[in-house]
This record gives sequence, C-alpha cells and structure tokens, in this order.
Amino acid sequence: MRHSSPGQAAAAVLALCMAAPVLAQKSTADGIAEYREMLQDGNPAELFEMKGEELWKQKRGPRKTSMEQCDLGKGPGVVKGAFVELPRYFADTGKVQDLESRLLTCMERLQGLDAQKIAATAFGKDEQKNMEGLVAWISSQSKGMKFNLPQGHAQERQMYEAGKRMFYMRGGPHDFACASCHGADGKRIRMQDLPNLTRNPGAAEGFGAWPAYRVSSGELWSMQRRLNDCFRQQRFPYPGYASDVTVALGVFMGVNGKGGTSTAPAIKR
Ligand code: HEC
Repeated sequence: MRHSSPGQAAAAVLALCMAAPVLAQKSTADGIAEYREMLQDGNPAELFEMKGEELWKQKRGPRKTSMEQCDLGKGPGVVKGAFVELPRYFADTGKVQDLESRLLTCMERLQGLDAQKIAATAFGKDEQKNMEGLVAWISSQSKGMKFNLPQGHAQERQMYEAGKRMFYMRGGPHDFACASCHGADGKRIRMQDLPNLTRNPGAAEGFGAWPAYRVSSGELWSMQRRLNDCFRQQRFPYPGYASDVTVALGVFMGVNGKGGTSTAPAIKR
C-alpha cells in the first residue's frame, strides 16, 4: 500500500468502503460493540453535561445574561425534546438552524457574544469548549426520545433536498461522496461499521449519537466536529462551522432518522 500510486490507494480505500460484511471479521465487530456497551455505564459525557447545564443558567457575555430565554424551537427556555426536532426553521432568523448554529444566535442576541468569532474559533478552545458542554447537556435532555424533524416549512424541505444532493455529490481527489461510505448497508472501513445514513436504523443510530464523547481523544465532539472529520475522510476542504451545507446534511440525516431513538451524547471510540 505504501508503494502504490494515489490512484491505486484510492481504489483500495473505496473497495474497503464498498466491501460487503466480511464474516471472518464479525467477531472483531462484536468485540467492539461489547466494549462500547461496557463504556456506556460510565460515559464521561456526563461531566460535559453538568458543565453545559451550568453554562445555560450562568449570566455571561457583555450583556451578563443567561441562555435561559433561548428558543431552541419549542419556545423560549424549553430544552426537553428540542434536540430531536433540530435542525428546523426559525422565523426570527429566517433560517433553518441546527443546534450549534441556533446556540450561536442565542449567544449573540441574548449574551452579546460575537457569533462569527466563536464560529471561527478552533474546536476545543475558548467559547468552543463551552459549546461542547451546551450541546452535551441539551442533547441529553432528549435522550431516549424519537427523532421528529419538522418538514412543514418550505425552507426545511429545501434544506433536505440540498443535503441530499450534498450527500450524493462526488468530488475531491478520490471522487468520494458521503454516500460512498454511508450510502448502503453493511459497509466497513478499518474494521469500523459504517452506518447507512440514508435510512433507519443507520440514520438515527449514526446521526442520533452525536454529540458524543470520544474515548480516543478524550473530547466531546459536536455534530459539527463529526462532520468536519468526515469532510476530511472525503478529502474535501473543511466546511464553515454551522454553515448551511452542514445544516443541510443534518436535515437530510435527521429526517431520514425519523422515528429512531436519540442516544446523544453517546460514547464513541
Ligand atoms: C471515506 C469514507 C467516509 C466518507 C466519504 C464519509 N465518512 Fe462519515 N464516517 C466515516 C468513518 C470511518 C466514520 C467513523 C465510524 C466509527 O468510528 O464507528 C464515520 C462516521 C460518520 C458519522 C457518525 C456515525 C456514527 O455511527 O457514529 C456521521 C454522522 C457521518 N460519518 C456523516 C458523514 C457525512 C455527512 C459525510 C459526507 C460529508 C461523510 N460522513 C463522509 C467514513 C466516511
């Protein structure tokens, strides 16, 4: 592999993506599944949740205001059940927003923080660290609930279509689309089962697990960060934080996951 041309390497990676389940490896996958289950008992995401709940109530920013009046789609201050209906359309911004982009709106409008600056901040630093806590806590308040993203507004349906196109759009040096790795059942790469994000159970399991605590890095990753990593896997440039393309992909996956159960914040390798 080390001596193969980029073309050969790409073909090999793609072949891995396309590979049908290899029965001989199933024991490894079972092992990983068992390990994940064991980890569920003590998910460090709880620490982030506690921090997030504090941050929600804390008076912060130039306006010294809490986030308690933030409308996540179910009315000001309603947190329970909000996560399983995001991304959705918000009349006050005239946009379809996911959890992170909506939090940016509230941080700016309620607390007077600079949303653009936060969006440009590296993951795991400064206000982005606070974002981790907030998304962990807010998603935890919908744990066990079923995904039910609204599609009543024209912009919500438009974003679904845009997300779908993005999902199937091939490009980059390896000519990958999200669908190359997540478009069918039973795909696997480097022993990781790749969820089929175009329908359930894969869509709800894959979309509905993030934000998640990553054991490998000891960090809490929001869906925005998860997507960034998949843009990297796809050899695409990183998308803008909370940009329309990331929200559209969220709408596509979330609507596909309708009726599936939210497990966020989950724990991942
Ligand atoms: C080259 C293959 C590849 C491409 C292309 C790719 N991904 Fe991924 N994706 C992965 C891998 C590998 C994982 C991690 C699986 C694991 O750790 O169990 C993953 C995980 C995910 C997850 C979390 C799934 C879970 O069960 O936790 C989501 C959501 C996701 N990808 C979305 C996307 C989207 C949207 C795109 C297109 C922008 C995309 N991916 C493109 C390989 C890819």
